[in-house]
Amino acid sequence: MPILRNIGFLAMCKDEGGQGEIHPIKNAAIAWQDDTISWVGTESDLPSEYKDEEAFDAKEKMVIPGLIDCHTHLAFGGWRPDEFAMRVQGKSYLEIAKAGGGILSTVKETRKDSEDELYEKAAGFLKEIARLGVTTVECKSGYGLTVKDELKSLRVYQRLAEDQLIQIVGTFLGAHTIPPEYKDNRQAYIDLVIEEMIPEVAEQELAEFCDIFAEESAFTIEESRRILTNAKAAGLTPKLHADQLTSCGGAELAAEMEAASADHLEKISDAGIEAMAKAGVVGVTLPLASLYTQEEPLNCRKLVDGGVEVAVATDFNPGSAPSFDLPLAMMLACNQGRMSPAEVLKGATIYAAKAIKKDIQVGSIEKGKLADFAIIDVPNPDFWMYHYKGAQCLRSFKKGRKLI
Ligand code: NIG
Ligand code: FE
Repeated sequence: MPILRNIGFLAMCKDEGGQGEIHPIKNAAIAWQDDTISWVGTESDLPSEYKDEEAFDAKEKMVIPGLIDCHTHLAFGGWRPDEFAMRVQGKSYLEIAKAGGGILSTVKETRKDSEDELYEKAAGFLKEIARLGVTTVECKSGYGLTVKDELKSLRVYQRLAEDQLIQIVGTFLGAHTIPPEYKDNRQAYIDLVIEEMIPEVAEQELAEFCDIFAEESAFTIEESRRILTNAKAAGLTPKLHADQLTSCGGAELAAEMEAASADHLEKISDAGIEAMAKAGVVGVTLPLASLYTQEEPLNCRKLVDGGVEVAVATDFNPGSAPSFDLPLAMMLACNQGRMSPAEVLKGATIYAAKAIKKDIQVGSIEKGKLADFAIIDVPNPDFWMYHYKGAQCLRSFKKGRKLI
């Protein structure tokens, strides 16, 4: 039964308490058996039967639950650095999309790539993501937009889930945008999503969630409701890209659909905040996306104060958020979203677990949960976010095994 001892500051990050309650323990230790935590507490209270077990030394550093990136678009073909250069010079994300760039340019590249090519590229990203202290990653399709290409991306995630120690959770995002071959017949594409893609994804168990880009420029609220209702009936849990560019009622729809999460939310209305709080929908802030699209960042404070649990994720994709640095997203959620370091830590652990319905299993350091944790080279969360720099994860464990 291995032990992690000499932990200077342990943040348990239990679900109980508010956004800022991380349940710290000083001078702590953790014991686990196989993949499951069997004991956690102050080291001086460590039961004597554990004392001679194999021990890892945390060297008085901070230990947190393995970070969870609950929103990524991990598998994609190509890159779009040209769009980045255009945006920093004043062209908007929507203008670029309307001119044929944006999501559709990645769709073109992703369709060209084989399953193995997408797999290799995504596996490479995961290796780097793990170095940040991340132990679980949600991954969306949405750059295929044909039955064959959507299934191809989801199969990549399924294979990664089987092959890699880092945990992968798959989400179907066939309703990301209308593909070019359906541009004059959007209804037919929506029918394809509902009648062919969703049943196939559910039947082959290729995803647990169905996401949608609910936005004037993508899918209307009516269309989103229809797609998500069908997804739910097929056993997929709804998620939404909501109120990112315009305030269009996405948060309200997320509450109505009892979605696991509504993500982005930069343009959320007060009624949307109230509806999400009442329905217990997790709000996911994606500060790298607003940063890279030069949009006003989400005021997370308003959501937290309004009773919404806020998770923090990267939105890693080749367009609006070409960085997978979750601690950087957390730092931005502090500085721009007005959350405290403790609040963003809960947002990247237990609330992120709730956004992907895995909070029974991961997201906090508690007896009975998976032994997922990261040793960070700082004394506490405040110092981590304040003196922000990369590469601060010294070691991480997934299911009790060394991930890095
Ligand atoms: O989450 N908003 C829609 N989808 C992605 C962007 C994808 C892209 O630009 O390729 C997002 O920001
Ligand atoms: Fe996204």
